[in-house]
Amino acid sequence: MSAEDAMRIHDSKHADAIELFFNGRRFTARAGESVAAALFASGVKALRVSPRLREARGMFCLMGSCQECLVMVDGRRVLACQTPVSEGLRIETVQETGADV
Ligand code: FES
Repeated sequence: MSAEDAMRIHDSKHADAIELFFNGRRFTARAGESVAAALFASGVKALRVSPRLREARGMFCLMGSCQECLVMVDGRRVLACQTPVSEGLRIETVQETGADV
C-alpha cells in the first residue's frame, strides 16, 4: 500500500464518496477525510507557496500546529488538516502577500 493509499478511508460501506474542488480542479474523497488527507491521497502535495522563500508548502504536522496547510474555503482561511471534506467544497490556494506565519 502506498503512502497515499494509506491516507484514504477504504471502508466504502460507511464512507460516502464526495466531490470537491481545489483551484477549480475536481477531486473525489471519502466522508470523514480531512481536506489535507484527501488532496494528498489524490496527489496534491503543495497547498500554498511560502511568500518569503517561494517554496511549496503542504501538510506537515496534521494537528493544527504548523499552519503549513493553510487554504481558503468559502473566503475563509482554514487549516486543511483540521477541515473535513464536504460535498462540493471549493478550496483555493491562499494568495500570500506577507511573511510566513
Ligand atoms: S499540517 Fe500542520 S497545521 Fe495542518
